[in-house]
Amino acid sequence: MSLASESILDNRLLSRIKELKARRRAVILAHNYQPDEIQDLADFCGDSLGLSVQASRTDAEVIVFCGVRFMAETAAILSPDKLVLMPEPKAGCPMADMIDAEQLRQLKGQHPDALVVCYVNSSAEVKAESDYCCTSANAVEVVRSLPADREIIFVPDQHLGRFVQERTGRDLVLWPGYCATHVLIAEYDIDKARRELPGAVVMAHPECSEPVKAMADELLSTGQMLKFVKTSNATRFIVATEVGILHALRKVRPDAEFVAASARGVCPNMKKTTLDKLVASLENLQYEIRVPPEVAARARRALERMVEVLPA
Ligand code: 13P
Ligand code: SF4
Repeated sequence: MSLASESILDNRLLSRIKELKARRRAVILAHNYQPDEIQDLADFCGDSLGLSVQASRTDAEVIVFCGVRFMAETAAILSPDKLVLMPEPKAGCPMADMIDAEQLRQLKGQHPDALVVCYVNSSAEVKAESDYCCTSANAVEVVRSLPADREIIFVPDQHLGRFVQERTGRDLVLWPGYCATHVLIAEYDIDKARRELPGAVVMAHPECSEPVKAMADELLSTGQMLKFVKTSNATRFIVATEVGILHALRKVRPDAEFVAASARGVCPNMKKTTLDKLVASLENLQYEIRVPPEVAARARRALERMVEVLPA
């Protein structure tokens, strides 16, 4: 297909999405790792914290969530009166599946006096077993707000957990979960990128491995990366996180140079959303994401605490 006919097709799809969105009174929320074209047409594009806040505040009747399952579940828990849809319901987060509610109950049994903080990248059932929820943007602040004399269990990401331990000086009980995408970014990738882009500022997501984080200049959630580059005087950046964020970063700072630390930093689940699936989602009101009410009621407490804590 020629480029011209592809763009006619895209334009048709885009106007169809606009028309359906108005008909359904829908809002499209997209994570910063989504494909470029999905980011471009979303009403709000952001990090897990920003998306959760948007989902809890929107007055739309339908939320179409372009991201992974735990994000849509979070929206459904925070906005129980809305219809929450995912264009691709099989888009999961392998890290979120690394601990289940039974495993967390067993861990709690070993630390009966501990408070439980779970990363938002977790199932609704795990959130229901937790006292507090956090994202990578406010994990440090959430842990800092807890009483100094209480033991803290932190699940499921060991790498975010170690970052929080370092920043807060608190000794956390960690779970050995990890993001299979972020741990693919290696120290030699940073060295190579630094040779390609001398003098660049290295920004890494807290889900990266400890040696990679030790090489970074800034450790930031995706939303914090966007904020950081907006006001930074630097013009070259190496980005150690999922590659989708580069599109958003380039829009914020068109004058700057951005390179991905590694082309392997791709989250296959985030790339499952397509324009066609988005149209089908709005057209057929599919696929509804529901959380059983008794699980949602318990998970909501931890999530409401999460959206109350602003990052520093
Ligand atoms: P952010 O909350 O920083 O956008 O990260 C979400 C995520 O899944 C990182 O892998
Ligand atoms: Fe999950 Fe990693 Fe994908 Fe984020 S990048 S959604 S943590 S698999």
